[in-house]
Amino acid sequence: MPLMQDDIRKHYEQAWKQMDDKAQDEASLVYSNPIEDGILYPLYEQLLNDMKIPATGGKVLDVGAGSGRWIRFFTQRFTPALLMGVDFTQASIELLKRRYANVAGIKTAFRTADLTDPSLDLGEKFDLINVMNVLFHIPEPDRFTVAMKNLANHLAPDGRVVTTEYMPRQSLRTNWMLVRSRYEMESAAAAAGMRIAVIKASCFYGNDPMGIDGPDAGLRQQFNNVRGGIKQVLDMQMNDQVRQFFVKFLTDVESSMLNFCAERIAEVDMPSQKLVVLAAA
Ligand SMILES: C[S@@+](CC[C@H](N)C(=O)[O-])C[C@H]1O[C@@H](n2cnc3c(N)ncnc32)[C@H](O)[C@@H]1O
Repeated sequence: MPLMQDDIRKHYEQAWKQMDDKAQDEASLVYSNPIEDGILYPLYEQLLNDMKIPATGGKVLDVGAGSGRWIRFFTQRFTPALLMGVDFTQASIELLKRRYANVAGIKTAFRTADLTDPSLDLGEKFDLINVMNVLFHIPEPDRFTVAMKNLANHLAPDGRVVTTEYMPRQSLRTNWMLVRSRYEMESAAAAAGMRIAVIKASCFYGNDPMGIDGPDAGLRQQFNNVRGGIKQVLDMQMNDQVRQFFVKFLTDVESSMLNFCAERIAEVDMPSQKLVVLAAA
């Protein structure tokens, strides 16, 4: 039975608590693939720069903040005037409050909040709303409509939402995700008074290959095999020098493919996940 919002909440309530209990230090909270990070983080920084989104000096909201992956991204690379993190699990907010309540030079705030709550009011308007790997966890159409309206309602004038989407031509349902098609995303944005401003493809193997359209005739599986192989390599016992070599080498392979394809193929058509920027219509 594919998971719905309540199942997702229960899952992450446990997952973030377990991670928090086990974590010796901040490094133990890092769970993302270093190759994905190596491609995605500079790409995101460039995107914010190109779009003149004031992640430094502006108000930034991270929705679905989890164990703080993007809170660390913003505190390590920018100096927002306000950095608010919200998540619908208490475990996440407890972890974030304990670890990031006092960041030098940045006002932080963490609140338990459900993006699908029709009465959501965070008391601020934001220059940037970061909503990473969250919207596809809201399969219920009514809750998704509310979530999109809440994003639009919390945008400052000229503010932007950045969301991770796959943008296939057909929607796909997996156990964990409702991967909405580019057409569904476009009309959901319009219904909430927003438009898609930019689509930026990220790495091919660091994330699910749900940008590949249609029924899986084996291609998604091939991408997953490569992704699995990369994980196997990085899980092997090796010294730091060899590990650094592999991370850099595999990042270069991804990066060269991505840059080659970006010159020739519309970013929306790439097999990868994308950073999708939404602005007021
Ligand atoms: C896949 S995790 C992503 C965590 C982090 N944003 C990242 O990219 O690594 C999804 C997060 O979104 C949160 N979430 C899902 N639905 C939500 C909702 N309706 N309101 C607030 N948070 C939600 C979950 O609790 C979880 O922390």
